Amino acid sequence: MCGIIGYIGDRKACDVIVKGLKRLEYRGYDSAGVVTGNGETLDVRKGAGRIDELTEKLGFLEMEGNRGIGHTRWATHGVPNDINAHPQKDCTGRIVLVHNGIIENFAELKEELLKKGHVFRSDTDTEVIAHLIEEELKGSEDFEEALRKALNKLRGSFALAIVYADEPDKLYVVRNESPLVLGVGDGEMFAASDVPAFLEYTNKAVFLDDGEYAILTKNSYVVKRIDTGEVVEKPVHEISWTLEMAEKAGYPHFMLKEIYEQPRALKDAIHGNREIIKGVAEEIANYDRIIFVAMGTSYHAALVGKYLFQRLAKKVPIVEEASEFRYEFEDLIDDKTLVIAITQSGETADTLAAMKLAKRKGAKVLGIVNVVGSMATRIADLTLYTHAGPEIGVAATKTYTTQLTVLTMLAIELAKVLGTASEDYLKKLENELMKVPELVELALKHDNAIRELADVLKDKRDFFYIGRGISVPTALEGALKLKEISYIHAEGLSAGELKHGPLALLEDGVPVVAINPSGKVFDKMVSNIEEAKARGAMIISLSDREELSRVSDVLIKMPRVDELLSPIVYVVPLQLLAYHLAVLRGNDPDKPRNLAKSVTVE
Ligand code: F6R
Repeated sequence: MCGIIGYIGDRKACDVIVKGLKRLEYRGYDSAGVVTGNGETLDVRKGAGRIDELTEKLGFLEMEGNRGIGHTRWATHGVPNDINAHPQKDCTGRIVLVHNGIIENFAELKEELLKKGHVFRSDTDTEVIAHLIEEELKGSEDFEEALRKALNKLRGSFALAIVYADEPDKLYVVRNESPLVLGVGDGEMFAASDVPAFLEYTNKAVFLDDGEYAILTKNSYVVKRIDTGEVVEKPVHEISWTLEMAEKAGYPHFMLKEIYEQPRALKDAIHGNREIIKGVAEEIANYDRIIFVAMGTSYHAALVGKYLFQRLAKKVPIVEEASEFRYEFEDLIDDKTLVIAITQSGETADTLAAMKLAKRKGAKVLGIVNVVGSMATRIADLTLYTHAGPEIGVAATKTYTTQLTVLTMLAIELAKVLGTASEDYLKKLENELMKVPELVELALKHDNAIRELADVLKDKRDFFYIGRGISVPTALEGALKLKEISYIHAEGLSAGELKHGPLALLEDGVPVVAINPSGKVFDKMVSNIEEAKARGAMIISLSDREELSRVSDVLIKMPRVDELLSPIVYVVPLQLLAYHLAVLRGNDPDKPRNLAKSVTVE
C-alpha cells in the first residue's frame, strides 16, 4: 500500500501535494517524493524518510510549477532508500510516474527491456512501467496510445499518476485493483489514492473503476477503458465526510477500517507472492526440522501454519513462542534446521533475538513479514511479504489474515514440490484461495448482527472460545482480540480440553464461542458444544452448517469454505465481535491500554 496524489491547476502544485501526502501517510511512510513542473522542465525530489523530514531536507515546498504528482511509500519491491523512492522515470527522464500496487510480471518485463538496452536505476517494479511506456512510444508521437499499450502488458495491481514532459498541460492517472479517485475542482483537478488528500479543496469526486485511466487538464477530465480506449461516463459524487472521517475512510476507528480492508489486503498478499512462492518452497522443501517462531497474533498464524504443513506437506513443524525459543533451543538447532519467523512489524524484540540465534547456529531463516526493510527482513535468509499495507490499529487484523494467506500458499507449493497431496486437491484449494477475499466480504456482512450481539454480551465477565484441529488457533486468536481491546477475560482452547478442567468454570449464561466449519472434526465439535450447553453456557456458533442452530443460542452462518482455508474467513466475525464489545464498553480499540503496536523490548 502506498499513497499517490496528482494536481493540475493554478495553485502551487507542491503545496497541494505535500498536504495531500500528509493525509495519505497512513498508507505508507518509509519514503516519499514529489515531481512538479511548468512547461517541459520537471523537478524531481525524493528520498527515504517521513514526509515532514523530507519536506525540510529536500525543500518540497520550494518546488515551482502548477502541475505535479507525489507519493508516500510503503515498500513492496526494493528496500526503502532514496533510489527506490518514487517518482520513478524512464531513460530520458521525460516520463515520470508514481505507483501504488504490485506488478506481478515485472521481472519478465524488465528482462525484455534490459535486452532492448534500457538502463534501470532502482530495484522497484514501478520503474519498469516508465521504461515500458518509453519503449511503446518509440517511433510514435501518441503518448496516450503508448501508455495504453504498456498498461495492457502489466499484470497485477496498479494505481498510477504520470507526467510526461512533452505534454505540460496534462496529467495521466490509472486504476487497476488499487484505489484512485479524481477530485473535480473549479479550474483545477486532483487525483489521489483516497479522498482526504484533496477534500480541503473540493468535495466532488469521481471514483475510477478497475481497468480505467483518465486524462486530466486543469479544466477537464476524460475517463477511458485501458483495454479498448473507449470513453466511460462517470458519475460525480458529493462527499459529505469531514476530514477526520475521511482519513479513516468514514470508519470511526482504524481497526474497523482495517478489518474491512481485508478482502483487498488478501488479494495483494496473493498477487504479491504468486510468482515467487515456488522458488521459496523449492529452497525449503528438504528441511525436515522446521520450527516456527513468533509472538501474539503472529504466533497464532504460526499454529495455523503447523496444521497446513502437516496436512499438505506431511511435515511436522514445532511452533515456539520466540521468547521461549531464544532460551530453550540453543542446543537444538543446527544447519539442518529451518526456522520460519512470523512478524508483521519485523521489529519484535523476542522474534528478532530468536532469528539471530537461529542464524548463529547455522539454521536457514525464512521471514514472513509485513514491513519491508524492517530488521527481520535484514536478518532472514529469505523473506515473504504479507503486503497488508500499514496497520495503525494496535490489534492485528489484516496482517493476521494475510499471514495466513501466505502460509497457505507456501504449504500448497511445498506439497506440489514434495508430491505429498493430490494434484487435483491442490488445484481446487488454489482456486478456492482466490475466492477467499469474496468469502471474507460475505463474513463482513454479519457486522450489524454482531453489533447487536455485542450489546447483549457487553456485561459478561468471561468468554470461552473453542475449536478443534485447524480451528484451535482461531479460538486462541478470537480470545486474544477480545482480551486486548475489550479488557474482558477470555480463554481460547481446543474443545477436546474442555472436560479436562475448564468445564468446571462453565455456568449459566457464560458465553462459549464455538468455531465449527464443516470438516474432519465437525461432529466431535457438536458433542463438545452439547457438553457446554448442558452446563448452561450461552453457545455462539460459527459454522456453515444450519443444523448447529439446534445446539446454539446464536448461529453466525458462515460461507462454505475448505476447512484448511477456514481460519482466514472465520476469524473475521471474531475481530468484529471484539471491536464492537470494546466500543460498547467505552474503550478506544485503536489504542488499547498498556499495549504498543510493536514490542521492541524483551
Ligand atoms: C495482537 C498483536 C500482538 C502481535 C505481537 C507480535 O493483536 O498485534 O500480539 O501479534 O506483538 O507482533 P509482530 O507480528 O509485529 O511480531
